[in-house]
Amino acid sequence: MNGLYAFASIAGELPERTAPARPRHAAIAVVDFGSQYSMLIARRIRELNTYCEVIPHDAEAAALDHLDVRGFVLSGGPNSVYEPEAPRAAPWVFGSGLPVLGICYGMQLMAEQLGGRVGPGRTREYGPAAIATTGESPLFAGLPAELDVWMSHGDRIEEPPPGFAPLAASANSPVAVMADAARGYYGLQFHPEVAHTPRGADILANFAHGVCGAAADWTPGDFIAETVEAIRAQVGGGRVVCGLSGGVDSAVAATLAHRAIGDRLTCLFVDNGLLRAGEAEEVETAFRRALRMNLRVIDARDRFLAALAEVTNPETKRRRIGAAFIEAFEAEARTIADARFLCQGTLYPDVIESASHGTGSARIKSHHNVGGLPERMDLELVEPLRFLFKDEVRRIGAELGLPDEILWRQPFPGPGLAVRVIGEVTAERLAVLRAADAIFTGEVRAAGLERGLWQSFAVLTDTRTVGVMGDFRTYGHAIALRAVAAEDAMTADWARLPHDLLARVSNRIVNEVDAVNRVVYDITSKPPGTIEWE
Ligand code: XMP
Repeated sequence: MNGLYAFASIAGELPERTAPARPRHAAIAVVDFGSQYSMLIARRIRELNTYCEVIPHDAEAAALDHLDVRGFVLSGGPNSVYEPEAPRAAPWVFGSGLPVLGICYGMQLMAEQLGGRVGPGRTREYGPAAIATTGESPLFAGLPAELDVWMSHGDRIEEPPPGFAPLAASANSPVAVMADAARGYYGLQFHPEVAHTPRGADILANFAHGVCGAAADWTPGDFIAETVEAIRAQVGGGRVVCGLSGGVDSAVAATLAHRAIGDRLTCLFVDNGLLRAGEAEEVETAFRRALRMNLRVIDARDRFLAALAEVTNPETKRRRIGAAFIEAFEAEARTIADARFLCQGTLYPDVIESASHGTGSARIKSHHNVGGLPERMDLELVEPLRFLFKDEVRRIGAELGLPDEILWRQPFPGPGLAVRVIGEVTAERLAVLRAADAIFTGEVRAAGLERGLWQSFAVLTDTRTVGVMGDFRTYGHAIALRAVAAEDAMTADWARLPHDLLARVSNRIVNEVDAVNRVVYDITSKPPGTIEWE
């Protein structure tokens, strides 16, 4: 998450502001009942090249007007269907006449709402299970009768609704699968979307393509052509400003806008002085020289350092940086005559998060809460990636010909090195961190490990330690190294880097970076730690 991307999540304000006309794709809609896996279901279906969107369970039917919906998936969820407050599927879902696949809570809802019976199981069933399907069903076409699946439920179907037949049982659920083939209604007690259900993707493909008849027409090439058209339609003859952060999202968004409107796009890159070694130059080379975009680099290094003087509190740092960013960006954007649009790389998870959770969720770190620029400058948003997941953005970027260094760049926080210099941020302390970080990341890359890690970076601690070099006692800074593996930033595991790599890095940092005499490796996972130290 970086740069302007941080402005994506101004909760609740995004959906109405931008709505470029998009072609009506054959699509599956996932109705979200609060499962941690709802988005994963959508991703899995898109991996089958069928377009899929997630809607909150209380959405109106009109939320899907832009799509040619061919079927619904009801997600899992934390509730029990027999609780009075439990969320229900809207009547228009079952009233649509379209196929419905209920997963876990979604299956139990289906049973409850269509006249069956659900009750608490005698034991919770969590983890791997085996099921054996009986009879023929389009949902299991081409699959063996015995399947390994992943369960996570306490309730179970006591009696399927009229019209449904049980298709499989597991040790703890007499009805692990149920079907009413005539109506295209299916229920799965297990989770086909998780990797622990090895044939889950086949089941979802059978549902989307076989039962719903949705075409597999969601490809990067189509997406690019349609999006370029949509940007042209939205922007007309206007001018667009786009903030580049160096990360993949803003790069792909800018490249799509550039394809659509060429020189009427101006990209701004704010050099806040909190970047890693060589980063500003890399961005300039990639976008101005290679991609031939209209790029302005704003040298705001002094402004940021001044804003950070004597600040040690991480949240104060973030607020000061957010404000300095907006000031620097706005001052430059105002010099672009008649720019009325702001292009940014908002991704689908942020759109869903802001639409379904509003502003109520706990604020651990404030990076989802910066913003206000579009309103202040009265700019209309252009968000070509607002329906994409991160891996899809990379696929689109590759198709657009973006270089690997940009496509596979690890996430870098908007406040940059300021949240990796613990304590006060000064030019000198930044220089120490930058030098140590360049050694660590360089060695990780040379070892071929960069892509396998979510992030790897150095932190300058505010601890000074005693050491001995030659015959001298030293009293220097301690650098911490952090490397994590993750699927997304919600959870992360500290990376088991090879000891000889760590030894080489430690040795080089102490020898090559003045004032550093100790290197430690962070072995905390998230949770309970966060990825960044501040
Ligand atoms: P944490 O430290 O919360 O980080 O585990 C999760 C992910 O978010 C990044 N991060 C930020 N990104 N502004 C951003 O744009 C921020 O203030 C910020 N803080 C953390 C972090 O690098 C990791 O990928």
